[in-house]
Amino acid sequence: MEVGLGTAEALSAPADLLAVGVFADLEPGPGAEQALEALGTPLRPLMESRGFSSKTGEAVALPTLGRLPAATLLLLGLGDRSAVDADTLRRATGSLVREARGAKHAVTTLAQAGPGDQAVAVRAVTEAAILAGYRFDKYKASSNGKRPSLERLVIVTGDGDDGALRAAVAAGRVRAVATNLARDLSNEPANNLHPEDLAAAAARAVEGKSVAISVKDERDLAAEGFGGIVGVGQGASNPPRLVELRYEPEGARGRVVLVGKGITFDSGGLSLKPPDGMITMKTDMSGAAAVLAVMSALDDLGVRVAVTGYLATAENMPSGTATRPGDVLTMKNGKTVEVLNTDAEGRLVMADALALGSAAKPDAIVDVATLTGACMVALGKRYTGVMSNHDALAAELLEAAAEAGERAWRLPLPEEYRKDLDSEVADLKNVTSERYGGALTAGLFLQEFVDGRPWVHLDIAGPARADSDDGYLAKGSTGAAVRTLLSWLDRRGAGD
Ligand code: BES
Ligand code: MN
Ligand code: ZN
Repeated sequence: MEVGLGTAEALSAPADLLAVGVFADLEPGPGAEQALEALGTPLRPLMESRGFSSKTGEAVALPTLGRLPAATLLLLGLGDRSAVDADTLRRATGSLVREARGAKHAVTTLAQAGPGDQAVAVRAVTEAAILAGYRFDKYKASSNGKRPSLERLVIVTGDGDDGALRAAVAAGRVRAVATNLARDLSNEPANNLHPEDLAAAAARAVEGKSVAISVKDERDLAAEGFGGIVGVGQGASNPPRLVELRYEPEGARGRVVLVGKGITFDSGGLSLKPPDGMITMKTDMSGAAAVLAVMSALDDLGVRVAVTGYLATAENMPSGTATRPGDVLTMKNGKTVEVLNTDAEGRLVMADALALGSAAKPDAIVDVATLTGACMVALGKRYTGVMSNHDALAAELLEAAAEAGERAWRLPLPEEYRKDLDSEVADLKNVTSERYGGALTAGLFLQEFVDGRPWVHLDIAGPARADSDDGYLAKGSTGAAVRTLLSWLDRRGAGD
């Protein structure tokens, strides 16, 4: 989708659609009054007859019958004027794209409804337009008319520094394209995305950018002591990989490490999942997809932090060569782990990558993983669980998530639960015999591998997938955490 900027003049140029906001109590947003006047339609009775209450996400389309340069006027609910933020604009833009019904060229005044900085609003509208236009239909003969029709969106702005507004469009686009890359990889069926393919996709995604890539194959991994990744991957005919991506801009403010869980399919291994539990497990590499997506965007966004990204990728399958319950693995940092449940595989591959990443003593480590069903029990499907050994760093990630419109909530890492991971034969076991608190004990397990570095763990088991189209999210993989991480790195590089 093409996204551009326009001035008030764009409102008098022909278009298929003009989209304007309406605040709570049917208070017209920027451009709405004039459009309705031209239509000769009083807002209140019309909206009341349509049951429109201007909640965020609501939309009503009105034919303009030649009275406006645009063929259709789309009214978009924004809720209370005082509560409008960047995510309100994103959600309204999502409705714009979804309710465009065949329109190819739309003009919108939505950004002018945003509070404060027009650049922030423009970035949000751009981002959401490209996100809402996403569909995964490469395996379908026809998209059944479900692919959004919109091809061009012109964002009308008030005053604002032209260069800053153009940069906001560019940044919004990069953030959304990166998120859509994560969605594509994560939606890809596991028969077409093995660990090797994820490594190849990583190489393609950073080609021509100032990001260096190196890949360890199964032999390197075994020779260099990555017992967790090897142990999880050894049951599959498609061998594991550890992908390292390095971005080192000049004048960087510090160095951070990102680690993503890249289980291309999680059958559970010999601790086999029941059939229903396996259905969505092609998306168990969403953390790695998010880290790759972030790495692919850093150069274009000009982020001023050195970032090393790791994709810890393996297929978790049962077979004669698979790790057995009771096996002991020696991890990259020398700690031994008794594997009592082969379905708790994510923490094993993550542990190796965290150990490698923390050995370089970065300023911060953030990991992203579809790690536990328990996190979904705790927080539901929309919230990312945030666990950390460092309050200030956790606060940074929570603020970045809020800016990105991604829901996140801090969970504790209670020291008194650590003993539940004590093993009779090894330094640790990979599961507890406790029925409750599984998200936290998974976090405590990972903490054993970060060598005390400032670290945040993001459990995205819930938000990595959406059950239905919703706002600017499409059903299936959501690209969760990509925009949060980009916002976080952006702020860190800017020194706020
Ligand atoms: N990939 C799953 C977690 C998951 C479950 C993500 C559902 C998204 C939706 C993970 O590898 C797993 O199987 N975790 C187990 C851990 C248990 C064996 C301690 C779980 O959550 O049941
Ligand atoms: Mn599992
Ligand atoms: Zn898993």
